[in-house]
Amino acid sequence: MEKRSSSSAAPAIREPGRRTYLMCRPAYYAVEYAINPWMDTSTPVDTARACAQWETLAEVYAELGHEVLRIEPEPGLPDMVYAANGAFVVDGIAYGARFRHAERAPEADAHEKWYRAADWTFVEPEYTNEGEGDFTYLPGRELILAGWGFRTDARAHAEAADVFGRQVVSLRLVDPSYYHLDTALAPLDDERIAYYPEAFAPGSRLLLERLFPDAVIADAEDAAAFGLNFVSDGTHVIVNAEATGMTRKLQDAGYEPVPVDLSELKKGGGSVKCCTAELRR
Ligand code: ARG
Repeated sequence: MEKRSSSSAAPAIREPGRRTYLMCRPAYYAVEYAINPWMDTSTPVDTARACAQWETLAEVYAELGHEVLRIEPEPGLPDMVYAANGAFVVDGIAYGARFRHAERAPEADAHEKWYRAADWTFVEPEYTNEGEGDFTYLPGRELILAGWGFRTDARAHAEAADVFGRQVVSLRLVDPSYYHLDTALAPLDDERIAYYPEAFAPGSRLLLERLFPDAVIADAEDAAAFGLNFVSDGTHVIVNAEATGMTRKLQDAGYEPVPVDLSELKKGGGSVKCCTAELRR
């Protein structure tokens, strides 16, 4: 992995911006209920191993020059490690989550407390939405992309447009394995995305083709290896180590993949992106 140099690069070379990420250590991680097809309550989970993998991810971000903030894990909330679901943050505004399943509902309060204590503008949601799990933002296109079909209520898309004063593109997810937008689509940089077309309804696929003709297209194998659940700083793409095919595609597209093993976290139906909330000021 290449470290970001502190000296200023030549103007033509685009330095990766310093991102701010919020993460939650999987201290109480377990698979105690099954709310997505990846979760199997009979599979043993190694919490210590999950913590070690998670620490590696946090270290990778720090080494790449990003700021990593932490929210305290809470006992009884085994999915809290998937910090992306706690809110969606753009322009310094945190639009709070409202979880679909009762098991995760209290996570929204924990995140709300965190944002309020850290002095972010917090907006309470009226409609069900799972934060960055189903929302992402492309600054170069000034577009919010939003998923619905399994977790987030489509009315939350209109709510988000109203909260942020920004355009929202609604995309319908149709494959239960890809129940959150961030399992099927991810920004590569300010303008470009990667996605798995089969996870979307025909109209949404057409919309994605029209908006993003230069997208990196993932196949079934890439998606199943959580290869779309990555975090990109525009240069480096932190991606689940199992997603070897996706890693090659990212490289061919001009990005620098940084594979991280998050196999324990996959048992809960999440990977790199699910563990990472991006806080945009
Ligand atoms: N077990 C969690 C759930 O089903 C996983 C959440 C993954 N997070 C994400 N951003 N996709 O809710």
